[in-house]
Amino acid sequence: MEREQWGSRVGFILATIGSAIGLGNIWRFPYITYENGGGAFLIPYLFAMITVGIPFMILEFGMGHKYKGTSPHVFAHLNSKFAWLGWFQVFIAIIIMMYYSAIIGWTLSYFSMSFTQAWGTDPNAFFYTKYLKLGSNHSPTALGSLQPHIVLAMLIEWTVCFIAIFTGIKSGIERLNKVMMPLLFIMILALIGKMIMMPGALTGINYLFKPDFSKISDPKVWSAAYGQIFFTLSVGFSIMIAYSSYLPKKSDISNNALMTVLINCGFSILAGIMIFAILGNMAYEQSKPMADVVTSGIGLAFVTIPSAINTLPFPYIIGPLFFFTLVIAGISSHLSVIEAVTASIMDKFKISRKKSVIIVCGIAFVVSLAFATNGGLLLLDIIDYFINNFALLLSCLFELVIMGWIIKLNDIHEHVDNISDFKIGNWFEICLRFISPLFLIVIIASNIYFTLTDGYKGYSKFDLLIFGWGLTALILVIAVLINKMSKEEI
Ligand code: PHE
Repeated sequence: MEREQWGSRVGFILATIGSAIGLGNIWRFPYITYENGGGAFLIPYLFAMITVGIPFMILEFGMGHKYKGTSPHVFAHLNSKFAWLGWFQVFIAIIIMMYYSAIIGWTLSYFSMSFTQAWGTDPNAFFYTKYLKLGSNHSPTALGSLQPHIVLAMLIEWTVCFIAIFTGIKSGIERLNKVMMPLLFIMILALIGKMIMMPGALTGINYLFKPDFSKISDPKVWSAAYGQIFFTLSVGFSIMIAYSSYLPKKSDISNNALMTVLINCGFSILAGIMIFAILGNMAYEQSKPMADVVTSGIGLAFVTIPSAINTLPFPYIIGPLFFFTLVIAGISSHLSVIEAVTASIMDKFKISRKKSVIIVCGIAFVVSLAFATNGGLLLLDIIDYFINNFALLLSCLFELVIMGWIIKLNDIHEHVDNISDFKIGNWFEICLRFISPLFLIVIIASNIYFTLTDGYKGYSKFDLLIFGWGLTALILVIAVLINKMSKEEI
């Protein structure tokens, strides 16, 4: 069977940007920047982007393009001993694919509610008690019952992704991203344009970028910068390898990687401006200090921003714009992670795209409903924390050690140089063999240390053991077992 191909270079880049730009850029980057030195944080961040982001992206594009397959295929091709890493990456993708759909489901519900600010005057109580229906008797092991309004929102979201992937790379994924990505940029610029005029907005933006250079000597700030770069670029969990496996023979790998990284990081800065303009205005309206209104993640999107929208003059414009931005950023990332899993199953079992996507979306949708229960948020929170702080970073480290130290990195380097417009030089190997693994080891070790000593957000040891450490170990063990059982055909 001939491998599908992207219809155009622009289409490919829009799809990789779609994957990289996700909720992380909007609700994680601004907060991390603010917390780690404001404007001064951009120094370690840009350093991490150059030393890890760009070379890692070139590496994954090169691997996918050279070996024309998804992670399990690529690693098995390099040496059948390493196929387990490919499967480990696919399992990470499977888990992220499931819980991410719940978050996008919530944003979809909030998008529909934002026209009338149906969350009322107390968005905090609304989100936890009325929307999620999370009670004090719920826990990750006592999930409660399915919440039909959340199930419905998730079903809509899964259906959009299903149709795009079912339709194929060029006519489905590429076409949808070609509409969504320009729309995403237009919407964020419109939001900035509108918000920047509001009282307090500029104070908020100044607050975000006010540099605190004393932070630069703090190793924690550097590890935050590196952690964010790994997370935001969608590397290490088989997405970029799968996407680049559909590139035509003659493709300018280095330039494509450079553009994906730069546009993604540029978008993060825009998102920072947007979020802090909204927060600045809110602090002004409520006469609160900025430090009291700054949050990140779920609390920011579903509690703080709705409160801020309540005090705006045109809430029915800003609200839908904001939540639709989240929906689009989320769907384009979700698409990529489902494609990575679908393509891996296709490659492994030699079945058609259509069959594979029906199996993947069908099973994943049903399992993902665990997150549509009363206690779904709690389960999601623990799994998200462990997958991002342990499994994903470990996977990146394994990939770098295997590619940089065991297999000849030079093969990929030469392959990329032969087909790209510019030659990448030795810094590529220095960054991937020395700088990136070093940072990863420090980050992973400190994450393990702090989680073991402090736990995570007060969850019980049992819950962390099962859904955190246990789940991470389980997918690693299953990946190794698959590798042992099957003699990967190449
Ligand atoms: N890069 C995404 C982000 O910043 C991470 C992601 C990719 C999450 C794909 C899910 C699926 O949010």
